[in-house]
Amino acid sequence: MTTTRILTGITTTGTPHLGNYAGAIRPAIVASRQSDADSFYFLADYHALIKCDEPLRIQRSRLEIAATWLAAGLDVDRVTFYRQSDIPEIPELTWLLTCVAAKGLLNRAHAYKASVDKNVETGEDPDAGITMGLYSYPILMAADILMFNAHKVPVGRDQIQHVEMARDIGQRFNHLFGQGKEFFVMPEALIEESVATLPGLDGRKMSKSYDNTIPLFSSPKDMKEAISRIVTDSRLPGEAKDPDNSHLFTLFEAFAKPEQAAQFRADLLQGLGWGEAKSRLFTLLDADLSEARDKYATLIERPADLEDILQDGAAKARKVATPFLGQLREAVGLRSFREQVQVTTAGKKKASKAARFVSFREDDGSFRFRLLAADGEQLLLSRTFADGKAAGAVSKQLQQGGELDIRVDADNVFSLWLDGACVADGPQFADSAARDQAVEALRQALQPQTE
Ligand code: TRP
Repeated sequence: MTTTRILTGITTTGTPHLGNYAGAIRPAIVASRQSDADSFYFLADYHALIKCDEPLRIQRSRLEIAATWLAAGLDVDRVTFYRQSDIPEIPELTWLLTCVAAKGLLNRAHAYKASVDKNVETGEDPDAGITMGLYSYPILMAADILMFNAHKVPVGRDQIQHVEMARDIGQRFNHLFGQGKEFFVMPEALIEESVATLPGLDGRKMSKSYDNTIPLFSSPKDMKEAISRIVTDSRLPGEAKDPDNSHLFTLFEAFAKPEQAAQFRADLLQGLGWGEAKSRLFTLLDADLSEARDKYATLIERPADLEDILQDGAAKARKVATPFLGQLREAVGLRSFREQVQVTTAGKKKASKAARFVSFREDDGSFRFRLLAADGEQLLLSRTFADGKAAGAVSKQLQQGGELDIRVDADNVFSLWLDGACVADGPQFADSAARDQAVEALRQALQPQTE
């Protein structure tokens, strides 16, 4: 059976709220239970550092989010659950990707652009308060996704652009270094259409930055208190309410069975009072979440156990990441010298006469080439050419073989002539015997290869 790899991360800044749960955690856990799913879920704690410079908050949030996912029903035997910061391959891949990511692409990232716009609006320097972390955020996220070759990435709508950027950057890397092979799978964002973004107390997207969240695993009292602050219109009990323009209804719908939602809709249309509606929402949420809430309370008291679980998860993830990163390092040319030596000696046996032309440019702008023997020894250094084309034409002519006009000289040097002009010189030799040997090596090297 072919499996679908699903991967998502949660930035560990705040305490998970209802919006995180309905928009990301719950659909991710449901998806992980499908038999063809191979899920990778992680705490995006490197991303958290971009937004938060309070160590205690970072630490607390990592713990709370780990406990939240486990309490919500994540089965760590089925999925790979880890902290981003426990995978050193992630920052390393981030760098490899940074080197191929177009700056222009990142200039277009919504989060970065929003910060610039705000600065411009307030008359600040456009880059005021913008870190390279914020700017490069999508590259780190691309590394998260591409490292594990995720097919599907469940995210909120605000993250779709980042997944698209991951595709873009991954494709570029494939193209540059894949040599016909696709290192990276192209990921797709996965949005649960009905409840992808929950409204908060004030009707805007539920978000910590708007201070409009409903806590997920706090006490029933705190949840009740938050629900009481949901903003409604001023219609009195008995007056018909408009469910489609009520975020209270949207919240209800996100947790209700279809028939419960239909009933609630009908009752609102019939004039159900807002107070009563809020109390029904509380009852619904409390019933849905109380079991997980108890589990959460137990887990949060046992940080050492959580640490063990996450270390196991990191080991599992690195089983994939370590060998894969090895391939990618190899692809970009970060290779062991030892391997390279083996490659050349093996190659030498096969084609002992293989020599290569290396062209380069002098400081004054003129062009030259060298002819190097298979072992790297210089056989010839060309005279200078005004342009690369002329240099290329000469080296090409030499590669085609044919009679060579080699002129030796009493000073134990030799030169190579083409159409009556000197085009290249050999090195200086200690004696004529050494020179003659080199001339022979040159003739061999420039002989048309017969296999
Ligand atoms: N940026 C995501 C968010 O804020 C979190 C995240 C980080 C993520 N890396 C990821 C999500 C990789 C999906 C895949 O919601």
